[in-house]
Amino acid sequence: MATVQMNVNPVDLTNVPTGGEKIPAPGIMVIFGASGDLTKRKLLPALFHLEQSGLLPKNFAIVGVARRPLGNEFAEDMKDGILKYGSVDSTDPRLDDFVSKVSYYALQFDDASGYAGLKAELDRISTEKNIGHDRLFYLATAPEYFAPIIENLGAQGMAQPEQGKVAVVIEKPFGHDLDSARELNHQVNAAFHESQVFRIDHYLGKETVQNILVFRFANGIFEPVWNRNYIDHVQITAAEDIGIEGRGPFYEKAGALRDIIQNHMMELLGFVTMEPPSGFEAESVRREKVKVWQAIPNIPILNAVRGQYGPGIVGGQKVIGYREEERVNPESGTETYAAVKLQIENWRWAGVPFYLRAGKRMKKRATEITIQFKQPPLLIFNRMQNQTGPCPEIQPNIISIRIQPDDGIALRFGTKVPNTPGMSVCPVNMDFNYAQAFGQQRANGYERLLLDAMLGDQTLFSHRDGVEINWSLYNPILQAWAAKAPEVFPNYFAGSWGPDCSDRLLEKDGHRWKNSLGKPE
Ligand code: BG6
Repeated sequence: MATVQMNVNPVDLTNVPTGGEKIPAPGIMVIFGASGDLTKRKLLPALFHLEQSGLLPKNFAIVGVARRPLGNEFAEDMKDGILKYGSVDSTDPRLDDFVSKVSYYALQFDDASGYAGLKAELDRISTEKNIGHDRLFYLATAPEYFAPIIENLGAQGMAQPEQGKVAVVIEKPFGHDLDSARELNHQVNAAFHESQVFRIDHYLGKETVQNILVFRFANGIFEPVWNRNYIDHVQITAAEDIGIEGRGPFYEKAGALRDIIQNHMMELLGFVTMEPPSGFEAESVRREKVKVWQAIPNIPILNAVRGQYGPGIVGGQKVIGYREEERVNPESGTETYAAVKLQIENWRWAGVPFYLRAGKRMKKRATEITIQFKQPPLLIFNRMQNQTGPCPEIQPNIISIRIQPDDGIALRFGTKVPNTPGMSVCPVNMDFNYAQAFGQQRANGYERLLLDAMLGDQTLFSHRDGVEINWSLYNPILQAWAAKAPEVFPNYFAGSWGPDCSDRLLEKDGHRWKNSLGKPE
């Protein structure tokens, strides 16, 4: 069926007021696990983007901390990372000045005796560069080091200094299951007050994710129909075409449910389903998300399916199966795909099924939320069928919120096909595309989150309660899957849309996954 595309014109931003961005106070950002990929690929490019936008304080330093003995080559490596992964021109005169703020300190994370040296080094940099005492500790290490680092920072008095503000940013995964997340929360809160803790979920830094709240609450036409009376069901997809990218040991312990569904996708679900918060400050937004997550009843094990990719073809290239990946058990039972069906038992959503799926090595990269609306009574078209022949198949309305790539929002509705006899109805898409409207964005999502953490704004970070609620929801599934090996793994080809059991999950309800991602079918 033909689909007509309608695009918006570029938006003139000349007179659009900005959010009045604040600049943080001078300080030092200390990145633990700085020799890992995240620092080079995401954190340093994001920090340099902030510098380019004039959003970093003049007196600012970045200290990378890791186990390997490294010298100046660390700053050079970070410069390469900024050029490779950031939207940066190598002739930008600000680049060398920015890189001169980067230094390195070698430390064994679990060796308590090394932290006094780190403290002295930070004090030295503060004095030499007139930076003051604000510190942002960023934990980008393997998760087993989160607790020792936090404990040692606490023991050295670095978590609660007499002068300056201190905050800690903790990367995911936050815990491995409910018990470990609870324990980590306990350890974190023994050293840091909850107002100092920033549990990061980089999805919340994505513009389109934040736009869900604007779309819902700043427009009069959507919210009145955003409920069980009008919405038939909701699908949330996080499909990746990449595999595990050499992260075998991490992924073997994680799997798709822990890696993506329990955190990133639950955040998306929270934004799509929460009640309007009383304001956009941290407490109000987090409270509404927690309320909606609390309204999700246990997910029956039959409503959760798992898959693992075998060899296949992705983007025209042959790729190996998961079990052949480097440092992966050749008989691995880890899922690289997971899908669940859940319900939200509250006044707004009772009876509306929500389907969530996430997978590696899928046909294409697409993170998208699809809201399918109920059909109106189609009586007049049925009557027409008797008079003029077959009734046109009329498709339900769909709103697709594309998180990435090609960020935007599309609305599908039916329209009469012109110049045809009778009443032929054809679905068309009204398509808003971020890049077309506002120009290409260079942000990778971390800019906003790093800035907010430096400013002490926790709105886009997870609260301890939220993390625990989401673990408690998925714990029974993880336990059931751990207790029973999957019958047939691998069960989907790399480059496909996932295993058959996932299609059946929706077919039982008379639905199917929307795979023409990017455009409602
Ligand atoms: C991370 C996961 O949190 O998110 C990765 O650990 C995944 O496995 C990544 O690839 C996806 O992020 P994005 O921003 O590319 O969708």
